[in-house]
Amino acid sequence: MTSKPGHHMTPDDFRRHGKAVVDWIADYYERIESFPVVSRAKPGDIRDSLPANPPEHGESFEAMLQDVEELILPGITHWQSPNFYAYFPSNNSFPSMLGEMLSAGLGVQGMLWATSPACTELETHVLDWLVRMLGLPDAYLSTGLGGGVIQDTASSSSLCALLAGRERATQFASNERGCDGRLTAYTSSHAHFCVEKAAKIAGIGRENLRQIAVDLDYAMRPDALAAAIRKDLDAGRVPCFVCATVGTTSSNAMDPVRAIGEICREYGIWLHVDAAMSGTAALCPEFRHFQDGVELADSYSFNPHKWMFTNFDCNCFYVRDRKALVNTLSMVADILYNRATESGAVIDYRDWHIPLGRRFRALKLWFVIRHYGVEGLRYHVRRHVELAQHFAKWVRDESRFELAAPAPLNLVCFRHYRGDAANQRIMDRLNASGDLYLTHTRLDGRLTLRLCVGQWQTELRHVERARQRILEEAAALEHVA
Ligand SMILES: Cc1ncc(COP(=O)(O)O)c(C=O)c1O
Repeated sequence: MTSKPGHHMTPDDFRRHGKAVVDWIADYYERIESFPVVSRAKPGDIRDSLPANPPEHGESFEAMLQDVEELILPGITHWQSPNFYAYFPSNNSFPSMLGEMLSAGLGVQGMLWATSPACTELETHVLDWLVRMLGLPDAYLSTGLGGGVIQDTASSSSLCALLAGRERATQFASNERGCDGRLTAYTSSHAHFCVEKAAKIAGIGRENLRQIAVDLDYAMRPDALAAAIRKDLDAGRVPCFVCATVGTTSSNAMDPVRAIGEICREYGIWLHVDAAMSGTAALCPEFRHFQDGVELADSYSFNPHKWMFTNFDCNCFYVRDRKALVNTLSMVADILYNRATESGAVIDYRDWHIPLGRRFRALKLWFVIRHYGVEGLRYHVRRHVELAQHFAKWVRDESRFELAAPAPLNLVCFRHYRGDAANQRIMDRLNASGDLYLTHTRLDGRLTLRLCVGQWQTELRHVERARQRILEEAAALEHVA
């Protein structure tokens, strides 16, 4: 037998290259504003620059890092740029990256408590902290009947909530025999499409997801919800799930959770609250009114990977009755048998979501919370809201533009008075310039620009510059017929 390390990297080389990677990342953030925010790569450019075949012999780490710089960076859209205002943010922070690195280093697969007790217990603990930090109901604490789990995305959480609601409504018969075609679900016409996707995957069927009408502020109308439920009940259908949104993707509309929750309680329907981005705002007591009534919800989810400085992926999903979720998703498997599970004294998170295997995501969340402290997180959330409100005020004062929807937090929806073509042109030119990145939505059929403030390095000067660039492109329109 040989005692050579084979082809593995040695600990000494790992130390050296690891430091180089940390330096590279720190440098990247120092020069991030020098890159065009949106990648200028054309389809196929990146693949064309890569060798057709894998290397027969291992290469040096220096060569790999060099290729990241030369081949990969041109194909990166800089989500962490302070000039990134598109979609919803997917922000980040150094403490989060370090937690992620440790998670990779430990290489834990935390499907069961027994496969790494710290992976499960830290997660349970940090999710209980967050219940307090966000002013969520005690019912979501793991010390009672509920509890929280980290999932990959809000889409997965919506699906799990729908599955649990489906099973509760059918006394677990759907799990056994499949859906009988009578189940119905409800969400607003402005909800994220992940709810529709969940309805398809869960066997409810897209046609049985009622897209409830919204009011003038794009929030779900409780009267329309109640009417749709009654109509379905009269027709012998089985309403099983409602999804309310705190901060819709399109315009950051706030569904009235309390009124929706009261209807769900009346009819015994599972209510899920999707607060993917805006849930983070509840760190600040002054923004908690947006989730008023959340104690009536059966489940709730928000994404620290959007606005809470925790790198993708990290979604927090809470249920008030963990049994309903676990009974929906747990599977009997001899190979996973262990004494801790058998004792009933531990949580096995494999039963709380779709995959079996799971990463140690709680580490990065723990690092973020410990680094910033609650006050630090609040400071940055408030700052983002202030910057967005500054931009919204400018839109209100600017005769060529109008606000297209209320701007309750950090998203501003606005448009130029000259209509769709003009707004499209402004957005295309801004994005092609590399100076900033905006995306759009349609509100009442009209193309509307969205500016969302949520990147950790964004400051007043960046928002001022965005405003100036938007004005320049609007001025250029004067020369267009
Ligand atoms: C309200 C809302 N729900 C769900 C999602 C989907 O998020 P994820 O990528 O975590 O599935 C988004 C994404 O922007 C969202 O805004």
